Amino acid sequence: MKILTEFAGSYDGTNVAEYKAHGGYQALAHVVTMSQQEILDELLDAQLLGRGGAAYPAGRKWSQMAHIKEMPKYIVCNADEGEPGTFKDRELLRDQPLTVIEGMTIAGRTLHAERGFIYIRGEYRNIQKTFQKAIDDAEKNGYLGRNIMGIEGFNYTITIVSGAGAYVCGENSALLNSIEGKAGRPRIKPPHLAEVGVYSLPTLVNNVESFSDLTVIYTLGASRFKEIGVESSGGTALVAVCGHVRKPGVYEVGLGKVTLRDLIYDPELGGGMYDKPLKFYHLGGQSGPIGFPEQLDTPFDHESLKKEKLSVGSGAFVVMDESVCLVDYCRKVMEFFADESCGKCTPCRIGTERALQLLTRLCEGKGQEGDTDKLEYMVGQISSLAACGLAQACDKAIMSCLRHRRDEFLAHEHGICPTLSCNMKAPSSVL
Ligand SMILES: Cc1cc2nc3c(=O)[nH]c(=O)nc-3n(C[C@H](O)[C@H](O)[C@H](O)COP(=O)(O)O)c2cc1C
Ligand code: SF4
Repeated sequence: MKILTEFAGSYDGTNVAEYKAHGGYQALAHVVTMSQQEILDELLDAQLLGRGGAAYPAGRKWSQMAHIKEMPKYIVCNADEGEPGTFKDRELLRDQPLTVIEGMTIAGRTLHAERGFIYIRGEYRNIQKTFQKAIDDAEKNGYLGRNIMGIEGFNYTITIVSGAGAYVCGENSALLNSIEGKAGRPRIKPPHLAEVGVYSLPTLVNNVESFSDLTVIYTLGASRFKEIGVESSGGTALVAVCGHVRKPGVYEVGLGKVTLRDLIYDPELGGGMYDKPLKFYHLGGQSGPIGFPEQLDTPFDHESLKKEKLSVGSGAFVVMDESVCLVDYCRKVMEFFADESCGKCTPCRIGTERALQLLTRLCEGKGQEGDTDKLEYMVGQISSLAACGLAQACDKAIMSCLRHRRDEFLAHEHGICPTLSCNMKAPSSVL
């Protein structure tokens, strides 16, 4: 189901004339005829859940921001896309930058902000250039700058800020610090960013896909947007499928309209396992939970996944076959968190290193009885004591494995790796 990406790649997404020929700027043309309350009501009704990871309702976030009187206000698009296995925003930024720009302009118009920033990860250097080209063409055609579309007082500009490779800078308060030129470390909240954001002024932060979805909502209407998805979560989602599947790629699917099984095995989607049978899949990046074959019939939408303790997260869907050891996989996940910790708080700075040491010894055949319980306690403590979402989510993958495949961890306590991929003893059933 292609709604957002229907024409992606078939025209020059940086060219306003071509964008308009493919339905571009219809949403903004509609928005400028609406009152602020009408725009907010439509967004609330659409049930757009943020696509950056936390799935916070966009309508609620915008309404909170609208009630803040302090001016000026800022709009920030989070295009850091640092979550491993996530590459869906890249497609939007590269193929349809004007869709993102239109979405950010709708936000500016609605919340009376005259300045927007887009924080694009440093690794997307070429995309930054493409995006700048689109900004320039929008300015040339009167869709950015002063008196947009000839409407007196409708002023809005967008500035690109480049990231420098730190995963934590995707966390919205660290991102704002980075925009200000400070070290990219998360802030303690409250105060919330809607009140004290970039340069200590009210700021709205949304993800690239969330902004892009606005062009669908204000063109098709909230009720159609909800029909495309499910009642509790409207629209489509872009899913980045990768790993041991035949057809890795970004797929747009109606929320709740496909199952996890479809994402892996449907010939139009993942295309099936590449070689060996499926063992597990990791949803939403390193911060997300891991799912198993017995959960494959779960529909892909926020509510259904939540019932299974799974989540949409950042849209990453990493599929792993039987050759991969779960404990070793979790070791790599923890290595990532330990590496990316900004060091500001002790549970994360020290705790992720300790958890990594424990997982490493399990993988090296040096495990000790009770290590699994110790690991569970340790990651539970880290996530509940950490100051920001980075370490608050570092337990998700491990906890889901312990819920469903505890035996594989217990075997490692005795120097046995059931998949034989840790270079350790085979279980007696394999020998
Ligand atoms: C460590 C960390 C990294 C994050 N990285 C990203 C990211 O790369 N892109 C993103 O949109 N959100 C990321 N987020 C979530 C943002 O903090 C924020 O919730 C999001 O940008 C809000 O947009 P949304 O409501 O449209 O989802 C990250 C969160 C954490 C804790
Ligand atoms: S949880 Fe980790 S990344 Fe977040 S503030 Fe603490 S040390 Fe930094």
